[in-house]
This record gives sequence, C-alpha cells and structure tokens, in this order.
Amino acid sequence: MKYLMITLALMLGIATSCNTERQKDMTRNETLENLKTRRAIRAYTDQMPPKELLEKVIEAGTYAPTGMGKQSPIIIAVTDRAVRDSLSRLNAAVMGVDSDPFYGAPAVLVVLADRNIPTYLYDGSLVMGNLMNAAHAVGLGTCWIHRAKEVFDSEAGKALLKSWGVEGDYEGIGNCIIGYRAGEMPSPKPRKSDYVRFIE
Ligand SMILES: Cc1cc2nc3c(=O)[nH]c(=O)nc-3n(C[C@H](O)[C@H](O)[C@H](O)COP(=O)(O)O)c2cc1C
Repeated sequence: MKYLMITLALMLGIATSCNTERQKDMTRNETLENLKTRRAIRAYTDQMPPKELLEKVIEAGTYAPTGMGKQSPIIIAVTDRAVRDSLSRLNAAVMGVDSDPFYGAPAVLVVLADRNIPTYLYDGSLVMGNLMNAAHAVGLGTCWIHRAKEVFDSEAGKALLKSWGVEGDYEGIGNCIIGYRAGEMPSPKPRKSDYVRFIE
C-alpha cells in the first residue's frame, strides 16, 4: 500500500511537471508566432524540398482534427513534374487562363475528402491549415490554391484519381502548393477591427 501511494505521488509529480513545461512553451509563444507569421507565398525557387521534410509536413496534416475522428480527408503528395504541370493546367483551365496558378512551386499537396462524411469540408480545410502552418514551421512556403473541387469533378481529374488508385466519392478541397520561397516574405494585412467580440 505504501509503495502504491509513493508510485501514485511520483506519477502525479511527473504529470504536473509536464503541464508546467507546456505552459512554459506557451509563454515562449513559438506556436503562436508561427501561426501569425505564415503567409501565402506566390513565388518559388525550383528547388524540391527533401522528401523527409515533406513527410513531416504531411504527417502534421494527418493530425488535424476531424469530425468524430473519422479522418475523411486524404492527401496526395505530387512531386512528379509532369503531374504537377497537368494539375496546374487543369486548374488554369477552370479560370480560363493559361498562366501557372501554382506560381512555380515544385510540389503540391492535394487534399481531398470523402463526401459521405458530413464534416468532410471542415475536415479537409483543417488539414489544409495544418499543412500550411507546419510547412512554415520547417521553413517552407505554401499557398492554398483553390478550384480543386472543379478539377477533380472534371473527367480529366477523375481519370487522374483513378490512375492514382483513389476510389470513392472524394471532393477536391484544396491544393497546398509547397516549396522554398523566392523573394521577400509578404506582410499580413491588418486584421479587421470587428474580427473578434468577447461576450463576457
Ligand atoms: C479557401 C482559400 C482559397 C484560396 N485560393 C487561392 C488561390 O486560388 N490563389 C491564390 O493565389 N491564393 C489563394 N488563397 C490564398 C489567400 O488569398 C490568402 O490566404 C489570403 O490573401 C491571406 O493571405 P495570407 O495567407 O498571407 O494571410 C486561398 C486561401 C483560402 C483560405
């Protein structure tokens, strides 16, 4: 009994010290700084990020919360130049332009989510957020490029999904273009004055 009490006391001590560590992290604000300093990057070098770095970012994406923990999204990591270029062309075609909507980024993380899960759109958007913030934390630039829905609802997009072995009712949520930033870090717009209301 005495030993049990000592063990429990020790365990409680470790748990408390872990919480204190976490609180210390919060005062250092590294995570908050990262969230505030991420920006949409629209100019990239040709350099492909190492696969291990992309994997770290993608892993962070897979830890985004999802409704009922159902993990409705999937992430397709495209580093193949020809596939990246055809995704860019399909995306441009939705807008009726022939420029590169991927701004020269060497890679794109396509997020799709299972339409049969009621929260799929929210789930996929949170994955996009995690990807962009995690990329910034490891020194990579990103930008959400839209029109993934239109691209993967098109016949050409469906054919690509099939060729990648993706079966099921997936909707394109967003394209997270990713790579090394070329040029200056953009400044954020000031936050609108009525963004937040405290009801106290
Ligand atoms: C849902 C969504 C769609 C977006 N689509 C595009 C896009 O197609 N092309 C683009 O250049 N930026 C796109 N963006 C990036 C936004 O323009 C950018 O996040 C916004 O201007 C704020 O800048 P910041 O990310 O640097 O804070 C998109 C962002 C979101 C959240």
